Amino acid sequence: MHEDTLTIHWMTDLHLKDTVTGLPEAAGAIYAERHYYAALDKLQQSVEIIGAIKPDLVVCTGDVIDGRQPLRAFAEQWERIRSPKTFVLGNHDLDAGYSAVVAELGYSEGPEIAGSRFTRSFPLHKGDVRVRILILDTYVGEDGQHRYDTCEGTIGPAAFEWLEKEIMGCPEPVILLFSHNGMEGPAAYFDQRHAERFRELARRLTQTGKRLYNLAGHHHVHPQALVKEIVPGYTYVNGVAMIVGPLSYLNVLHVQKDGTLDIEYEEVRYRSTPHSPK
Ligand SMILES: [Fe+2]
Repeated sequence: MHEDTLTIHWMTDLHLKDTVTGLPEAAGAIYAERHYYAALDKLQQSVEIIGAIKPDLVVCTGDVIDGRQPLRAFAEQWERIRSPKTFVLGNHDLDAGYSAVVAELGYSEGPEIAGSRFTRSFPLHKGDVRVRILILDTYVGEDGQHRYDTCEGTIGPAAFEWLEKEIMGCPEPVILLFSHNGMEGPAAYFDQRHAERFRELARRLTQTGKRLYNLAGHHHVHPQALVKEIVPGYTYVNGVAMIVGPLSYLNVLHVQKDGTLDIEYEEVRYRSTPHSPK
């Protein structure tokens, strides 16, 4: 890796379903484009790739489980990652309960920001490349509590105030904001009042010459990320969902000092786990 490039490995929407892991013939192993039986294999391969390449940062934008079940299968793999890493939950993870996700992924001790232990801000610098990483939990309601049984993203008042302060005040010229739901994804999946308010903030920021990206999962894109420039300087990226198909991808982001962001993909596929009857 070059000194003048930041590399981020980004996984999203794994949808682990323990009951069918390694069992492609089992009932419920496949639903539409979701190949549940292959999810753990893909996760394990991602962890191996991360171990070999040693990126500057690993991000997971949630939906690591598909329904109410333990997060253990994910947590065991996630713990093997030695590179700096950060996680934010998706709506499906909330099926386990917010407190369970916090406890199982080791977030109990961290600060709570705008109602979430996953929301955070930190610098990522390498040589001349200076990036601000923002992680936003989009499932905290106006009352500061987590919203269950919805797949609509939201930015409550406390979260917006925090975002505005971080986005307008951080010293870095490039901001990567990761969230489960994307502010510019399909309209049904984000509170449009909040999406519009965020777009206004993005416009204000880009007028200062800074670059902003919102990188999200939730909307299952495959085999390549969807990239949309919303206004000059503000780009929305919907990453490849790992659950889709027997073969999917780990998103690999390369960020240059001028804010250019390129995306490559590392293949992750079903290779038959030891659980398989094969
Ligand atoms: Fe989701």
